[in-house]
Amino acid sequence: AKADPVKAKQIVETVCAACHGTDGNSVAAANPTLAGQNSHYLYTQLKAFKAGVRKDPTMLGMASMLSEDDMRNVAAYYSEQKPKDREASDKTQMPLGAKIYRVGNAGTQVPACMSCHGPAGKGLPDQYPRLGSQHAGYIVKQLNDFKAGANRKNSPMQDIANRMSDAEMKAVAEYISGL
Ligand code: HEM
Ligand code: HEM
Repeated sequence: AKADPVKAKQIVETVCAACHGTDGNSVAAANPTLAGQNSHYLYTQLKAFKAGVRKDPTMLGMASMLSEDDMRNVAAYYSEQKPKDREASDKTQMPLGAKIYRVGNAGTQVPACMSCHGPAGKGLPDQYPRLGSQHAGYIVKQLNDFKAGANRKNSPMQDIANRMSDAEMKAVAEYISGL
């Protein structure tokens, strides 16, 4: 099916904007910024919520209302919005955050996040989600969800999160939010 930006905008304005913003830049840290996120990734997450594979009660309800075409449409719409630059709020976390993101931790075999999510945090279309400009609070929750394997299962993120300490998660999340 061809993308339908008019239909997408209608769904976004009436349903999603309350939490993710009309332009995909959310305000509350619990609600991820969707602006500029890879379209394929957004679509696969909506599918996962709807199937109950990625567990979130709110998003289960939202995704359940969307048809296959709706999911592709809103994914395309949000991917075309511009993410707002954000500044890391806790600068003391930068040295450790940058180290994890760019080099990893050889001692515990945490790989450099950059190797998949890219040096500027843009990800890779069809393969890896964008992380740059994301809320640090949301990133920390996702890493903990991967680690617990309850709400969200995914290889390689589950294995990576398993090897990370709370301090490393917090630091890398702050670093990522400023990318
Ligand atoms: C997560 C899309 C409506 C709250 C997500 C994600 C997508 C998405 C794609 C995953 C993002 C990622 O993995 O980076 C949408 C669409 C909506 C919608 C297309 C409208 C049809 C809402 C509404 C709320 C909400 C109305 C609040 C009441 C959340 C929260 C998460 C989330 C809290 C994070 C869940 C978690 O911690 O894993 N949404 N959303 N969304 N959304 Fe929505
Ligand atoms: C997803 C962080 C390393 C592959 C994610 C997400 C976060 C994250 C927060 C969820 C994004 C969202 O919900 O919007 C990190 C950090 C890393 C790291 C902090 C370094 C410590 C890697 C590496 C790879 C990778 C090295 C590739 C080998 C992926 C994939 C997803 C993902 C495929 C999508 C998962 C899905 O479809 O549910 N990562 N990542 N990540 N990451 Fe990473």
